[in-house]
Amino acid sequence: MIVTIDGPAGAGKSSAARRLAQRLGFHFLDTGALYRAVTLAAIQKGINLDDAEALLQVANNANIVLNDDRVILDGRDVTTLIRSFEITTSTRYAADHSGVRERLTKLQQSAAAGVDVVTEGRDQATVVFPKAECKIFLTASERTRAQRRHQDLAARGENIAYEKVLEKQRARDYRDQTRPVGALRKSNDTIQVTTDGMTPEAVVNLLEKIVRKHM
Ligand code: DC
Repeated sequence: MIVTIDGPAGAGKSSAARRLAQRLGFHFLDTGALYRAVTLAAIQKGINLDDAEALLQVANNANIVLNDDRVILDGRDVTTLIRSFEITTSTRYAADHSGVRERLTKLQQSAAAGVDVVTEGRDQATVVFPKAECKIFLTASERTRAQRRHQDLAARGENIAYEKVLEKQRARDYRDQTRPVGALRKSNDTIQVTTDGMTPEAVVNLLEKIVRKHM
């Protein structure tokens, strides 16, 4: 069974999807981590991120393994490195690149082949797994999402002003919604869950209820 969770940045998709997968005994696929890992690989190789050809080469040659909650890039654990503010604000080059998306879409599909999976991203229900048995669109207000992201960064020692986090989030929302390939949009067969005012526990409980109805 495939459960897709799409939604904007900061909606709490990642932790909700991870916990949901644990409860169901499913694998968890964090597809944003793939775009982050390609970005990190390019930066580490000193590649100019707007050099589309070089970026594609990096994506094609990088060996990225998603091991439930760990991300391994060319044999090195980069789980923490890919969450930095620098990577977060630089992922758009990989995310906007149709060739990179094609390569990462194939990776996602092969990771989900023959297993039960909860997958999380922007284009999971629309592009990568259009036949998924259960599709969820997880969202929250702009303010709630920016506050969560701000707190997450602070907890990791990155003290970025809230206004700056909000401004970058707006830019990412705009890009996520308008990119020519893999844009964030809600398909007709998707159930929307808005998480403002909900505890993480309440979100997972609701998601579990929705998925079990589709089993
Ligand atoms: O969900 P996240 O913040 O880890 O995503 C990182 C970046 O990758 C963000 O710019 C959106 C993009 N992304 C995407 O384009 N398609 C996906 N399936 C997942 C993430």
